[in-house]
Order: sequence, then C-alpha cells, then structure tokens
Amino acid sequence: MNLPAHHPLVDGGTAASPLIRAYRGDRPETTPVWFMRQAGRSLPEYRALRVGMAMLDACLDPELSSEITLQPVRRHGVDAAIFFSDIVVPLRLAGVDVDIVPGRGPVLGTTIRTARDVAALRPLDPAALSPIAEGVARTVAELGSTPLIGFAGAPFTLAAYLVEGGPSKDHLRARTLMHSDPAAWDALLGWAADVTGAFLRAQVLAGASAVQLFDSWVGSLSVVDYESRVSQFSAQAIAHVKDLGVPVVHFGVGTGELLRSMHAIGADVMGVDDRIPLDEASRRLGAEVPLQGNINPAFLAAPWPVLERHVLDVIERGRAASAHVLNLGHGVPPETDPGVLTRIVELAHA
Ligand code: CP3
Repeated sequence: MNLPAHHPLVDGGTAASPLIRAYRGDRPETTPVWFMRQAGRSLPEYRALRVGMAMLDACLDPELSSEITLQPVRRHGVDAAIFFSDIVVPLRLAGVDVDIVPGRGPVLGTTIRTARDVAALRPLDPAALSPIAEGVARTVAELGSTPLIGFAGAPFTLAAYLVEGGPSKDHLRARTLMHSDPAAWDALLGWAADVTGAFLRAQVLAGASAVQLFDSWVGSLSVVDYESRVSQFSAQAIAHVKDLGVPVVHFGVGTGELLRSMHAIGADVMGVDDRIPLDEASRRLGAEVPLQGNINPAFLAAPWPVLERHVLDVIERGRAASAHVLNLGHGVPPETDPGVLTRIVELAHA
C-alpha cells in the first residue's frame, strides 16, 4: 500500500469498519449497507442546499460537496459515505463542454465522433483536481472511522455520453464508432481512462478508503465487444489506484452476462444490479468474490412489509457470496421517502 501515513485506512480506523472488512471478504457481525445516490434529491436537506446552484458548481465547491456527502450518513446511519460528485466532473475539469441538465443528466456542448474530435481532447491538469481533493479531505475529517468511497465513471460509460452528446437509451452511436473507427475509439477510451483514473487517484490520496468504478451503461455491450474493445481501458483506469491498495468495487446495470469479464479487469468486489439474484451472481463469479447489491429500487415505494420481505430475501441470497454489502440494484429514485432508507439500514443492522 502506497497510501500517505495519515490516510484513514492506515491510521483512521476505517480498515476495521464493517464495510472495508466485507470488501476484503470478511463477514462482519452485521451486514454493512449504503445506497447508490444516497446523497441527492431524496433528501430535503440536499434540495435546500442546492437551491439556485448548478449541479457541477456544487460538485466543485469543497464545503458544499463535503456537507452533501455527510447528509445521508447523519440521517440514515449508513456504513459508508460516497463522495458527492459526478462521473462527468473530471471531463469538465479537462476542459470538455459538459453540463448536467436537471431531470435529464449530462449534456455535451459538442459531440466527440471523429478521430479529429478525439485528438483535440486535452489531458487533465492534476492541479484542476484540487477542489475534489479538498472536498474529500474535509469529508474524511468529519467521518472518523466511517469510510468514504471515492468513485469514477468507467471509460465506456463516459464515452457513451461523449459520443452521443447526452443520455441515450441504446448508446448506438458509441457502439458503432467502436467498430467503424477502432483507432479513434481506442484513443477516446484511453483518454477517458487516464482522466477518470486521475479523478479516482485524487480521491484516494485525499482520504477515500475504497473506490467504485461505475460502468453504468456497459450492459448494452456483448461480451465479445466488451472484452475486445472496452475492458482493457477499464483496467487502465483502475491501474491509476492499484498501487494504493484500496478495495475496488465495479458496477454496471444489466451486467449479468458480463460479471466475470468485469471482475477480471482487477475489481475486488462486484456490484450487482437487480436483474440477477445475488446467489446466481455468486454462482457465475465463483463464491469467493464479495458482492454488493441489489435491492430492487421499485420496491422502495411498496408497502413496508413487501419491501421488508424483499430486503430479507436479498440478505439471504447474499449469504451465497463470501461477503455481502447491502445496497440497491441502482440509484435511489429522487422521489423516494428517505424514512424508508433509514428503515432498511435498521433492518440490516438488527
Ligand atoms: O450519493 C451518491 O451516489 C454520490 C453522488 C453521485 C452522483 N452521480 C450525483 C448526482 C454519483 C455516484 C453519480 C454517478 C453517476 N452520474 C453515474 C453512475 C451511477 C449511476 O447512477 O449509474 C451516472 C451514469 C451519472 C450521470 C448522471 N448525472 C445522471 C444519469 C444524472 C441524473 C439526471 C437526473 O437529474 O435525473 C446525473 C445528475 C446527478 N448526479 C444528480 C446527482 C445528485 C442529480 C442532479 C441534481 O440533484 O440536480
């Protein structure tokens, strides 16, 4: 481990936390739990802070990003914080014209579709990451022995936004570029891997005790396309933090067929979405891989007894894996009653 001597994983007690123990394959006394998108619109205290402030401006304000990161930890008593930021933040810091449009997601001013477009992309100046490092440092100073998870988008998911110019259902133009101009594709994914890898590394050096690489939209690829044109770039992104020795979680949506290939890029833990039960995911991966997931977000608005039964079923199936961190199969829907999330934490800890 090449972590700084004062890193929380070295001297701050997060190594003994239930989350990090589970990520390392141990089974703590109670199931650790956190929620993807736990910081955000489901919380009234978040909506109050964000009034009149653009999403990306909030991400680049260390005081605000830290406060928003801490809100769900205080409210729900979750076992981890995840740094409040966005997968497109490092793109913006590298000079890409990208904004986050409320209710829609990341939207690009110009698309990246040709070798010339790719060649015009600039590397990320490490100094630009200082608001991220400062936000993380402020956060871990407050968290004590509760670990902070750093995160980044994987090259394919970033490329899906860069090529499409915004959110897309099938990422068809990105999937076409991969085959019509493989050299431009490789250059684009290589650029994205280094930009997102630097974002990840800055978070770990500033105090994150684990990282999650989100390849949210990779489920639209075949295993063949993934292994031949994508996975090496996800490995390249992860390589930026490998020497630091923090656990690496890897997650995507609709990835039942890709789990083994995604694990093979160098992930320690696999995040599983709600389309495949955890016991089946564990069977596909071999039982030694710790799993994270996979409460179906659709159940969050169901009556409590229905949700409770579902959560207990997820915990039960999670016993098939060497270790299990309870989470959702995808992010918290904005309209979720936050009280329901607190109740799930109490159930997991009971
Ligand atoms: O609490 C957390 O999970 C940490 C914060 C976080 C955000 N984005 C904040 C955010 C994380 C981990 C992300 C990652 C992210 N961003 C992913 C990967 C995770 C996933 O959900 O698959 C992706 C694909 C994005 C791109 C993106 N950014 C989308 C699809 C959206 C939602 C658009 C919308 O308004 O519904 C965003 C915006 C965004 N990122 C919000 C938040 C809290 C909402 C913006 C707002 O509150 O105004």
